[in-house]
Amino acid sequence: MSNLVKLIDLPPLGDDRGSLVAVEANKTVPFDIKRVYYIFGTKPGVARGFHAHKALKQVAVCVTGSCRMLLDNGREKEELLLDSPTKGLVIEDLVWREMHDFTPDCVLLVLASEHYDEADYIRNYDDFLKVVGV
Ligand code: TYD
Repeated sequence: MSNLVKLIDLPPLGDDRGSLVAVEANKTVPFDIKRVYYIFGTKPGVARGFHAHKALKQVAVCVTGSCRMLLDNGREKEELLLDSPTKGLVIEDLVWREMHDFTPDCVLLVLASEHYDEADYIRNYDDFLKVVGV
């Protein structure tokens, strides 16, 4: 696995009632959590993302269903299937990300290190390559 793919184990606190996962800022995930959002009801054939962030760090967890994640730092690309509520994918700053092949039941939970800021987005791939010096 390359340096691009960093997975965090989110162990389920299970008992005979079922499972529960707890995520704590600066413990389970390596930053303060300032924002949480989730993507669901993604239409068939729709891909999302296609941007990088200048400073934002995120952890993505597919709590139900699955999607295929593509990460790209300008020099290498990695793909992985996110399909477990007990695995969190760390997406560092300056990483281009694309999400593909959402299953109809997919709920993708994202924990973010900063509030929403459109100025932090790099939405053009050529601009991204310039920023990372490729
Ligand atoms: P966008 O970042 O384009 O989604 P993705 O890249 O994951 O496909 O966000 C879609 C819309 O939602 C866009 O208009 C910005 C808005 N948005 C917020 O207002 N707050 C947020 O925290 C996020 C992630 C998006």
